[in-house]
Amino acid sequence: MLFDSHAHLNDEKLINRMDEVIENAKKNNVAKVVCVGYDYDSSVLAIKLAEKYDSVYASIGIHPSEAKTLSMDLSWIEEHINNSKVVAIGEIGLDYYWDKTFKQEQIELFRNQVMLANKYKKPIIVHMRDATKDTYDIIKEYKSREISGVMHCYSSSKEVMQQFIDLNMYISLAGPVTFKNAKVPKEVAKAISLDRLLIETDSPYLTPTPFRGKTNEPKNVLYVAEEIAKLKGVTIEEVEKQTYINACRLYNIEMKEVK
Ligand code: NI
Repeated sequence: MLFDSHAHLNDEKLINRMDEVIENAKKNNVAKVVCVGYDYDSSVLAIKLAEKYDSVYASIGIHPSEAKTLSMDLSWIEEHINNSKVVAIGEIGLDYYWDKTFKQEQIELFRNQVMLANKYKKPIIVHMRDATKDTYDIIKEYKSREISGVMHCYSSSKEVMQQFIDLNMYISLAGPVTFKNAKVPKEVAKAISLDRLLIETDSPYLTPTPFRGKTNEPKNVLYVAEEIAKLKGVTIEEVEKQTYINACRLYNIEMKEVK
């Protein structure tokens, strides 16, 4: 069974054909999907989808690109955090790639959401782009070691990877690991210990080979698993099973039987 640890089912590209998307996922043996919010509306929608579909769980939070003011309102996160299908706070983090204008606002927003995660003992889903040092420093300083988290669509080096693992973070690989010229994600896949690895689609973005150019959806997490198995020289069953167990452990989801 496969676990897509990060997908935006709440995106307009997917939302109108959700029954089909869920059905396609089942056909490819994708048993669970975490639907990730990036602001208030998308988080509430993630919860609605999680309540409608058994196989779907929700993560709620505010993405760094939404940071425009200091002291953003986070009370709605606290209002929804104890919903039984809300499994994480995310996606949160730092992104200096698109826009550095709101750097201080991003830092404060990230820090405050990490502290909320500590308070409610929820794992964090971290988005990091061109901001490795600041992201690392905030996680190191503010995240309780007891709670875990995941570096989603991880794209930094294998050396940095180990530093995040040492802070009790998992590493999640997405479609780019299947791209022919993606040297760094392939190195990370080879180097990482299977027990710290998750897989994801980040649907509707980052469609893996051989479907590049099409809208991504959770069924395609299979191709991420296949490529990682090839790179590590293990069976796809091993990658499926261990990443499934890891995701259930991270998100605190009860495992029935794992095939
Ligand atoms: Ni995402």
